Formats: sequence, structure tokens, C-alpha cells
Amino acid sequence: MSARPPIRTFKPRRRPLSDARAALLERLAPAWCLPETGAPFDPTVTFGRSAPLVLDIGIGFGDTLTTIAGERRDWDLIGADVHTPGIASTLARIEAMELTNVRLVHGDALVFVERLAPASLDGIWVFFPDPWPKARHRHRRIASESNIETFVALLRPGGSLHVATDIDDYAAQVERVCGSHPALDGGVVPRPGWRPRTRYERKGMTAGRRAIDLIYRRA
Ligand SMILES: C[S@@+](CC[C@H](N)C(=O)[O-])C[C@H]1O[C@@H](n2cnc3c(N)ncnc32)[C@H](O)[C@@H]1O
Repeated sequence: MSARPPIRTFKPRRRPLSDARAALLERLAPAWCLPETGAPFDPTVTFGRSAPLVLDIGIGFGDTLTTIAGERRDWDLIGADVHTPGIASTLARIEAMELTNVRLVHGDALVFVERLAPASLDGIWVFFPDPWPKARHRHRRIASESNIETFVALLRPGGSLHVATDIDDYAAQVERVCGSHPALDGGVVPRPGWRPRTRYERKGMTAGRRAIDLIYRRA
């Protein structure tokens, strides 16, 4: 691990788990959750094959992760979130859908990435990151220059970083940071039909917001 812990990009939520969710977590986490810290991660050992590998940062309730994992069984996906009820719900979906190509990290994705080899990811998804709208909290946005630098180093040449946000000012930040990065090429794209609408996106739509998708490919 690096000397200093990463700046926290999520809001602490301390609501206790229901008994049912706690039991689910206890039963399923050992099989599907990867430790946040530890030895370098070898996907061929974990998944038993070599396949395109995607990291979904901030999975929420795991709708996008599990839907795509079900549709793309030829991909391997790792989803990370600190939100315990979301991890429990995602585990339930993994079991119900009999997915073998997903693993979860119940923890900070920015800590877990230290286990990943450079240029080992085909994709990084950051869908509806916590917006941190107040000026004094902006340094907590996950799309900071230093985090984008980390993500670029993790992508294989040709791999892509996909951010979706319904906060205009957040999209502008991504455009500014990624658009000026010498190893990235891309920008705003039409909303891809394959990206499921999560409850977070739907809530934003009800409030009159619209999603902006940005995709940057590593040169
Ligand atoms: C606004 S929610 C969006 C969830 C989901 N992607 C969606 O579209 O519905 C953002 C999520 O990112 C998670 N998050 C933020 N920073 C994170 C980090 N460094 N590591 C893991 N999860 C993080 C939060 O806990 C939260 O669940």
C-alpha cells in the first residue's frame, strides 16, 4: 500500500444491516469478495482463464455490474463499493444469476487498485460517482487528476475509462482532466444503450437531470 491512504471519495453511511442481509453477506462474501489489500491480484488464478477484465468503481446495488456480467459471460468483472447493503444485494444477484465471472471488493477501490498490475484492465467504469457539489469538497471527487493518472496506468493500450454523471459540472471536470491527458483520447458520447438505468440514474431523471457519458480510450 502507498504511504498515505487515498482521499476518501465516498460518504460514510452507518445504517445497520438487516439480519437477512447480514446473513447473506456472511454466507456469500467468502466466495465472491476479494480482499481490499494483499498480494498482487492475478485474474487468471481467480477466474481460471484469461478474459477481458473490467473494474466497476462504486457499484451501488450492482445492477449494472450483474446485468452486464450476465450478458457478457466472456468478460470478467470486478465491482467495488464501500456500501455494505449494496454489496449484500449484489451478492444475492450473483447467486441468483449463477454468475461466475464477477468478484466484489467490499472496500475502497482506490486502495484495491494497488493490487492490480499496470496495464491489466480493459475497462474502468465510474458510473454516477458521488458528486461532492460543495467547492470545499471538490478534492473528494474520484475524477481528480491524480486518480485519473492511476486509472490510465491500469488500462491496457486500447482500454477505456467510461464515466457517466448527471452533474454538468462533474462532466466538465472529466472533460478537462481526461481531455488534456496525453495518453487519453475521447469525450462525450451518446448514452450507450447497453448501460442499464440504475435507480440512481432514474432518481436524477425524475429530478430533471440527464446522464452524460464520457468515454476515453488509452492510446
Ligand atoms: C452515487 S452512487 C452510484 C452507484 C452506481 N454506480 C449507480 O450508477 O447506481 C456512488 C457509489 O460509489 C461508491 N464509491 C465512491 N467512492 C468509492 C471508492 N473509492 N471505492 C468504492 N466505492 C466508492 C459509493 O459508496 C456509492 O455507492
